Amino acid sequence: MQSTLTGGADAIVLTGWRQAREAYRSKDLRQAMYDEGAVIMKDCLLVLHGEAHRRRRRVENRLFRRETFAHWERHVLGDTLEAVLAPDVAAGRADLRALGYRAAISLTATIAGVDHDPANTEHTSRLEDVVRTFSAGATLAHSTRDPDEVRAEVRAQLEAFRSEMLSASLDRRRALLQRLADGEMAEDDLPRDVATLLLRHQQALEIPLEVVEREICFYLQAGAHSTADAYTHALDELFRRAESHPEDLARAADDLAFAQRCVHESLRLNPASPVAWREPLRTLSLRDGTVLPRGSRVVIDLATVNRDPEVWGSDAGVFDPHRAVPEGANAWGLSFGAGAHACIGAELDGGMEILDDGPPDDDHLHGTVAVMVTATLAAGGRPDPDDPPVQDPNTKRPHFSSYPIVFPEPQE
Ligand code: HEM
Repeated sequence: MQSTLTGGADAIVLTGWRQAREAYRSKDLRQAMYDEGAVIMKDCLLVLHGEAHRRRRRVENRLFRRETFAHWERHVLGDTLEAVLAPDVAAGRADLRALGYRAAISLTATIAGVDHDPANTEHTSRLEDVVRTFSAGATLAHSTRDPDEVRAEVRAQLEAFRSEMLSASLDRRRALLQRLADGEMAEDDLPRDVATLLLRHQQALEIPLEVVEREICFYLQAGAHSTADAYTHALDELFRRAESHPEDLARAADDLAFAQRCVHESLRLNPASPVAWREPLRTLSLRDGTVLPRGSRVVIDLATVNRDPEVWGSDAGVFDPHRAVPEGANAWGLSFGAGAHACIGAELDGGMEILDDGPPDDDHLHGTVAVMVTATLAAGGRPDPDDPPVQDPNTKRPHFSSYPIVFPEPQE
């Protein structure tokens, strides 16, 4: 498994911060992680290169801007979290991993444009199944399973998803766009999601319906998995730090700006995608002299890069939300990528950059993950003392297969 993650014996693995940043920004390196996963990733934003990528990204950037994030954080997020958290809080317990995934999938469905009621647990768990199958297809390069079997599962799941949810969601949006064209509704009343955006610009982008569908499926994966992962890791880091710094855990429960710092520091140490793969389209040399031959496999080892002691100091591996961010770096390291493919949802999930000159102003956005972390801690969520978290034995990545937490009994 490890050798496939690191790209095989011939891969050129970049472990230094500066090397990695330069590679991410190079126009001569193309995305290479999802070639095997074309069954679900073909022609999606993440795999496009050059002008085709720029064109699609320019359109999709129209949704991913501060105005939408503010609407999202202030008006959508609270209700969704309330619906997802309430049953677990009432039951007095939850599994952090399952809770995080449930919340993340509901939130991501809203952004992707798949109609969904977060209070409907059956629908949520069906969406979870769908997204897991798509992710298995996208990451076929890392799979130990028979690729044709995985591809057949993805095709069947896509067909089922289309008839159960996707086609109806697209039809509803087409009808709304028609009403807009007929002057019967205002532009501001359109759903702010990827599906509406792509249907509206489908002709200009010259993409067939199947690409619109795959792009929506890709957004579901990109948002759900990484949001859930960031949430679980941030809480885990905080719970472990509380053994020596209980004041930080208490503060994160009611100080969103501090919770955001904790999320950034945890993202640095726990990148959702621990490696990125690229292929040089021509032979090139990095500034430090590393040669990247045309057609070779270049692997950016994010987990190592984000702990580069030359940038982060000798305590680079320590979770310290009070850490001063080094000049020229971001608090989350390179966990949102960089360059052309830098994460379009970074500000949505991670919030606006924190400036070190005083408390954030009222317009500051803290990001989905910090809001989720604070909501969980404010509801009293703490690790179950009788049931410790379990690391996933099937992977060398720091993944939990379960993470039981308990909530206090409600006060009379
Ligand atoms: C903590 C959460 C997240 C993390 C750590 C994360 C991480 C990343 C990374 C590392 C990349 C670049 C991959 C590469 O260059 O190979 C990326 C790209 C992307 N992410 Fe995220 N992501 C997160 C949340 C989201 C969310 C919430 C969305 C949308 C709902 C999203 C949508 C995307 C898209 C569309 C791209 C492709 C951008 C492009 O190719 O131009 N991500 N993400």
